[in-house]
Amino acid sequence: MPMRTQVAIIGAGPSGLLLGQLLHKHGIDNIILERHTPEYVLERIRAGVIEQGAVDLLTEAGVGERMHAEGLVHDGTQICVDGVRHRIDFKALTGKSVTVYGQTEITRDLMDARRALGIPSIYEAYDVAPHDFSGQHPRVTYRHDGKEGAIDCDFIAGCDGFHGVCRKSVPPGSIKNYERVYPFGWLGLLSDTPPVSEELIYIRHQLGFALCSMRSTTRSRYYLQCSLAEDIDAWPDERFWEELKLRLDDEARAALVTGPSLEKSIAPLRSFVAEPLRFGRLFLAGDAGHIVPPTGAKGLNLAASDVYYLWQALIEFYKQKSSAGLDHYSARALARIWKAERFSWWMTTLLHTFPDQAFEGKMQAAELDYIFNSRSAATALAENYVGLPF
Ligand code: APR
Ligand code: PHB
Repeated sequence: MPMRTQVAIIGAGPSGLLLGQLLHKHGIDNIILERHTPEYVLERIRAGVIEQGAVDLLTEAGVGERMHAEGLVHDGTQICVDGVRHRIDFKALTGKSVTVYGQTEITRDLMDARRALGIPSIYEAYDVAPHDFSGQHPRVTYRHDGKEGAIDCDFIAGCDGFHGVCRKSVPPGSIKNYERVYPFGWLGLLSDTPPVSEELIYIRHQLGFALCSMRSTTRSRYYLQCSLAEDIDAWPDERFWEELKLRLDDEARAALVTGPSLEKSIAPLRSFVAEPLRFGRLFLAGDAGHIVPPTGAKGLNLAASDVYYLWQALIEFYKQKSSAGLDHYSARALARIWKAERFSWWMTTLLHTFPDQAFEGKMQAAELDYIFNSRSAATALAENYVGLPF
């Protein structure tokens, strides 16, 4: 006998877990199917800058307690160009701030809350496949503990990330993908050392972009722009710290505390959007539908706005018997997604070293000078960084 639920959610990343939590709060049944173990999901290290809108949504979902207690509220950020630091004052320019709190911790808080409420999740679900979503009776099949399983549902939420099965399951002619791959990656290092600065520092340097970020007052996250061909084994911690020092300004170089890495990895940079995000009764949300390069930390925040629109649409369907929200989900979500895609592409283009740098380098310098000397230009950056409304 197949199980039955209202919304079958594929993927237990931040998108799937947040959607499940919000639906449960409003009495809508859901089951999550996740390919990996919870421990594996929690091992992935990702950005940690949360917009106020996402903070509010997590709070609404009942998982804000630890984020409010441990998150660091940042009223601005620093941009360092040619060894000189400039501050973008979010609070003065927009009245808003961001919260620095690791995505891993958000995922952990969501998992703990789901477990405490006893909402069903099937981890280590293999060969998950969405079926019949173009009709009225979708079904998800999977394999778990060596047995075949099936879930009949009203809707399928594809929250299974960029490499997930949902986007790949729609007929090729019904989806269009937009993509840009950048000619470099980010080499990231996490360490239990105090951050070099109270605020994040985005660094444009002729050797390549660098970013000084943090997870807490005792844990730092640093990144270096690197070649895509880079071998992680060629980067012992000492080499990473030496290269970072070269890209820092004098004050930061003097303040930098180094230490052993807890994690070190190389990530490629990509912009990607699939259109549309709805296929009958299958909806894509989060990384399943789009990817941003990490410059500006929009990944999790965009997942949150998708989830917000989808959650509202499902409430409308179940409580008001109206399909209007579901019909508008894709267009509403994409309108915000494309603006965040633009901002992430722009921040990436503004701050990285490109192979053919002569003209582009001059454009970057002119644009940065404009931002540092025009309140309007700085406000445009700040307004996007703290997050456009949803
Ligand atoms: N079956 C079941 N689960 C799957 C499958 C599958 N075929 N494919 C992928 N998954 C799971 C992955 O194991 C992962 O746990 O779906 C989950 C997707 O999670 P994320 O990749 O974290 O995507 P999302 O929840 O949309 O989170 C978006 O995370 O990737 C970052 O930058 C991104 O911050 C953004 C946020
Ligand atoms: C991070 O802390 O990992 C981070 C912060 C800001 C970014 C990207 C990543 O723009």
